[in-house]
Amino acid sequence: MARRKVTVVGAGNVGATTAQRIVDKQLADVVLIDIVEGVPQGKALDLAESGPVEGYDSKLTGTNNYKDTANSDIVVITAGVPRKPGMSRDDLLKTNYEIVKGVTEQVVKNSPNCILIVVSNPLDAMVQTAFRTSEFPKERVIGMAGVLDSARFRTFIGMELNVSVENIHAFVLGGHGDTMVPLPRYSTVSGIPITELLPKETIDRLVQRTRDGGAEIVALLKTSAWYAPASAIVEMVDAILNDRKKILPCAAFLEGQYGINGMYVGVPVKLGSKGIEQIIEITLTMEEKAALQKSAAAVKELVGIIGV
Ligand code: NAI
Ligand code: 2OP
Repeated sequence: MARRKVTVVGAGNVGATTAQRIVDKQLADVVLIDIVEGVPQGKALDLAESGPVEGYDSKLTGTNNYKDTANSDIVVITAGVPRKPGMSRDDLLKTNYEIVKGVTEQVVKNSPNCILIVVSNPLDAMVQTAFRTSEFPKERVIGMAGVLDSARFRTFIGMELNVSVENIHAFVLGGHGDTMVPLPRYSTVSGIPITELLPKETIDRLVQRTRDGGAEIVALLKTSAWYAPASAIVEMVDAILNDRKKILPCAAFLEGQYGINGMYVGVPVKLGSKGIEQIIEITLTMEEKAALQKSAAAVKELVGIIGV
């Protein structure tokens, strides 16, 4: 089998950690690209020098030149500016719009058949930017947020119940922002809905902590998270490269599903070698539907501002 190639655009905290997790799992060769000279080269070399000890022989390339990214199977876009204290994800909108648009143009020229995973914030508007700019089919442009938000919810459920997080599944839908929609009814411990295991007030507290999960880290680190984001990205990379057909919450371009049309919102999808192979429509209560609509309206406002 030919060696697989994943390009990670942005060699900052999320990008470099994503590269590390990909080679640790021996999923692919990795190209790290950034506008800053020296940083992608230095981080790629440092990661390559871990290979003999960690036991991977993935090829790592650090570069400022998109020619080195040619014919990637997957391109992960983390380029942009992260949140600082007091800054919302939406404050990043215009700066990151220009960055993601420019990056996508370069990526498309060099890897016309790749699958794009967009990470830069505000996530739903940035993945829509990459979709419009690339003119790729919708199946090949995917946003990462739901896997991270669900991982946070799973972590908090595990802490509360003192059970292994391996037993816990959770779904967080909607946009990656304050209006995201954690779904307790579809969140389970070994198949048991958490609504059977925890009182409503506790669930409400965990839901709110999940919604504030990004801000909680920003308040501590004075910048945004990267370990869990990188883990979430790499679960998606693995599902695609290995055609796992995993059902994961991802930002997908909706055309009528969930009553939402012509925009990206987080929903359960099947991820495999073709990218988004299916959008799963689950039954929602009136209240859950209303929360998803509210979240979609918040995304719509942002994409309206940048006109994508
Ligand atoms: P960072 O500041 O550590 O890294 C960003 C990197 O992008 C920097 O190295 C910078 O030089 C580079 N960059 C800027 N413009 C570029 C361009 N035109 N081409 C190539 N590289 C460029 O930031 P961090 O923490 O890695 O976060 C990256 C982005 O991911 C942010 O927008 C952040 O908000 C977002 N994020 C999204 C998450 C999600 O769930 N979707 C989770 C965590 C972060
Ligand atoms: C997070 O949720 C900032 O979107 C980023 O950590």
